[in-house]
Amino acid sequence: MVPVTPRPRRAVCPGSYDPVTNGHLDVIERAAALHDEVVAAVLHNPAKAGTFSVEERIGFVERALAARGLADRVRVQAFAQRLLVDVCRELEADVVVKGVRGPSDVTYEWPMALMNRHLTGIETLFLPGDPAFEHVSSSLVKEVARWGGDVTGLVPDEVRDALLARLSADR
Ligand code: PNS
Repeated sequence: MVPVTPRPRRAVCPGSYDPVTNGHLDVIERAAALHDEVVAAVLHNPAKAGTFSVEERIGFVERALAARGLADRVRVQAFAQRLLVDVCRELEADVVVKGVRGPSDVTYEWPMALMNRHLTGIETLFLPGDPAFEHVSSSLVKEVARWGGDVTGLVPDEVRDALLARLSADR
């Protein structure tokens, strides 16, 4: 009998990652512990200018993953104007992994998880976010950094420095 090599289990961690936070990285790291491969999918709309370019966002995620020793288990890939389910199909992903910081995240994510399952059958796995990052989101970190607050420990140091350089000009 020809031995059958099982296909690697692949998870997708989708997001805008504008910019990546330590909360995102915690979820990606935990997803990597549960799956053979993880793709951090940077979903973006080219018509909408983010704070950081897609190339910058990818660079931040890649270097932060390398610093955690995860570069060989997680790849970072950008997708423009695509349904998440189509991205998952292209990547031959088995599951979507999302971090949830509390009940309001679950309320927000719930219909999307059901819609995605309705569309292609893909399942979404919710990981409870580390309480240390319960208050951390890309948008809140940007707001704090814009007005001179310290975001050390909430994002990689490189991202903190880039936020200060990019957003302090708005003050
Ligand atoms: O980091 P974000 O902004 O919370 O990420 C949201 C994201 C990109 C994961 C979500 O908006 C998404 O999945 N967009 C892709 C378009 C899509 O599939 N929309 C229908 C969802 S049911």
